[in-house]
Amino acid sequence: MIVRIRSNLITSQLKITIAASASFFILIVVLSTAVKATVSEDIGIPAHSWSHTGPFGRFNKAALRRGFHVFRNVCSTCHGIQRVAYRNLTYLGYSEDEIKSIASEVKVLYNKDGGAGLYERPGLPSDKFTSPFPNEQAARDANGGSLPPDLSLITKARPNGLDYVRAILLGYEPTPSKFHLMSGLNYNAYFPGHQIAMPQPLYGDDVTFEDGTATSLEQEAEDVVTFLAWTAMPEMEERKRMGIITMIFLVIFTLLMYACKRAIWKDLE
Ligand code: HEC
Repeated sequence: MIVRIRSNLITSQLKITIAASASFFILIVVLSTAVKATVSEDIGIPAHSWSHTGPFGRFNKAALRRGFHVFRNVCSTCHGIQRVAYRNLTYLGYSEDEIKSIASEVKVLYNKDGGAGLYERPGLPSDKFTSPFPNEQAARDANGGSLPPDLSLITKARPNGLDYVRAILLGYEPTPSKFHLMSGLNYNAYFPGHQIAMPQPLYGDDVTFEDGTATSLEQEAEDVVTFLAWTAMPEMEERKRMGIITMIFLVIFTLLMYACKRAIWKDLE
């Protein structure tokens, strides 16, 4: 009698655990979708579907290479991605020699003897993609007083960052007649306040893609944002892989525990 009650107790505990885990999972999915929807609605950012998001999403290497191409030829004139070193480009499929040659195209300023003097040398694979300006003042002077931020983490630093950065790149529009635009700024439909110091960086014919993909403003924007998603979370695929392995382990573990329970209580029930 006592045995039966205990056995039932364990079975119902197991059921409760499974039900609780399932509800928790569903709650997380619903909440994350709801939060995303509210953020997009509040600031009117058009939502875009990204191939690398979702629990099984992976970075599309071709898109990353195209995005890097856009970054290197356009954005890097003003922005750095300090968290990325040239040698990290191996992930995008570049060979050691290609990386050496990409790095050597930039001039790195360095301080040789602890004095005030700065010397120039060609970049090395171990160097980071630093800001193209020698210091903040120079960066501001070249941009009408505004500072182009480092873009390594920008897609994580802004709410709904992927859609937001894409929207900024696509959001240059003629200034509405009633809008008072301050001199030196540009009208952008999606930048908070609608006045941005960055001049329109992409027009749709800024680069030629090595893989033959046709260029367009949308294509360039999507690819460069995918690249900036990678710079912000280069470990994303590894994290998702670990998540999936953990889920598989938990399922197997639950089944094993259930089988154990059945075996142990078999004779007693
Ligand atoms: C001519 C210089 C220049 C170029 C080229 C340029 N930017 Fe900018 N960018 C700026 C400046 C200046 C700001 C600061 C804007 C402000 O604060 O009003 C900025 C800001 C930004 C921001 C931040 C917006 C925010 O929410 O603060 C993003 C994102 C950005 N740029 C992305 C890019 C991308 C992607 C490219 C390449 C396709 C690019 N930029 C090319 C000068 C530039």
